[in-house]
Amino acid sequence: MKLLVTGGAGFIGSAVVRQAVAQGHEVVNLDALTYAACLDNVASVAASPLYAFEQVDIRDAAAVEAAFARHSPDAVMHLAAESHVDRSIDGPGVFIETNVMGTYNLLQAARGLWEDKGRPEGFRFHHISTDEVFGSLPADRSVKFTEDTPYDPRSPYSASKASSDHLVRAWHETYGLPVVLTNCSNNYGPYHFPEKLIPVIILNALAGKPLPIYGDGSNVRDWLYVEDHADALLTVLQRGRVGRSYNIGGENERSNLELVQTLCGILDELRPKPAGSYADQISFVTDRPGHDARYAIDPTRIRDELGWRPSVTVEEGLRRTVQWYLGNEAWWRALQDRAGVGKRLGVTA
Ligand SMILES: NC(=O)c1ccc[n+]([C@@H]2O[C@H](COP(=O)([O-])OP(=O)(O)OC[C@H]3O[C@@H](n4cnc5c(N)ncnc54)[C@H](O)[C@@H]3O)[C@@H](O)[C@H]2O)c1
Repeated sequence: MKLLVTGGAGFIGSAVVRQAVAQGHEVVNLDALTYAACLDNVASVAASPLYAFEQVDIRDAAAVEAAFARHSPDAVMHLAAESHVDRSIDGPGVFIETNVMGTYNLLQAARGLWEDKGRPEGFRFHHISTDEVFGSLPADRSVKFTEDTPYDPRSPYSASKASSDHLVRAWHETYGLPVVLTNCSNNYGPYHFPEKLIPVIILNALAGKPLPIYGDGSNVRDWLYVEDHADALLTVLQRGRVGRSYNIGGENERSNLELVQTLCGILDELRPKPAGSYADQISFVTDRPGHDARYAIDPTRIRDELGWRPSVTVEEGLRRTVQWYLGNEAWWRALQDRAGVGKRLGVTA
């Protein structure tokens, strides 16, 4: 299958690109190369005859349409997005432009191509979204997000992703475009951009800096190893039912404080400090405005319909992640110079 993957130079998109090429798919990686992108993430497949790169901004409808015409993909996996909640608080405009208007441009280009090809049944537009569209859960761990949970986004980022989900469903209902959607919980793993919680904790720990925890650290996230997410995405693309959405999660709920303490324990073992524990560097900072209390995914549908389940436990995944950062200093050092990285963002008033 020939896949057009948007955002393939980012964290999750690059995992999808690497796995898709390994599975023998042709892949066109379409990415604008924003501050969050790094082509080193796909260096392992860059020389493959199955791989092509297009530097295109999805806000540019004409450029998107031209790329679709040049490559005529069989399926689109749409991951390109502005993805950092804190940046969406400081500058929501680009989240609307990329996540909403960019998705609209892709839907129109995909629809045009699909109609020109004679509406092939096997064509897919796969929209990769987040569990954050569902809002915030209570502390009661028996309550989780299902595919039927009403949308209730609470940050500019999640609202822009919710908008794009609605557009994708509308293009299916109105024009018949064969779409699938996925809403995934928090990812972690290699190539995670060094402004997100887990890399920030690892890299600040190694630098002897404070380990910032928003609020009291009680916010709960459901963590999924990025390679498992990429595997789930390729499963849904190939076997998911048209018009349907699938929640993807690792069933690994951890409070932010528990997560940071686990990372400190792994670092204490793999890179011990001369004295004391990395946990001594933990520092509680002002909470994020509108910080959702808890996210948790009920993955029953993807498990029962498609037989997908994660392969990596959170303990194993975090250990692999720490080992990856310890072994790939050149990768993360280069990204730490980019605008906004290492600074506290998203604190209003
Ligand atoms: N990171 C998570 O935990 C998580 C969880 C669930 C869903 N998602 C979704 O998965 C997708 C990928 O997330 P990620 O964490 O890999 O993001 P990321 O920020 O690491 O990568 C985003 C990529 O999109 C590209 N991009 C941004 N704006 C663009 C534009 N206008 N035109 C073309 N390319 C553009 C960037 O250059 C970058 O390569 C996003 O849609 C996100 O909403 C992420």
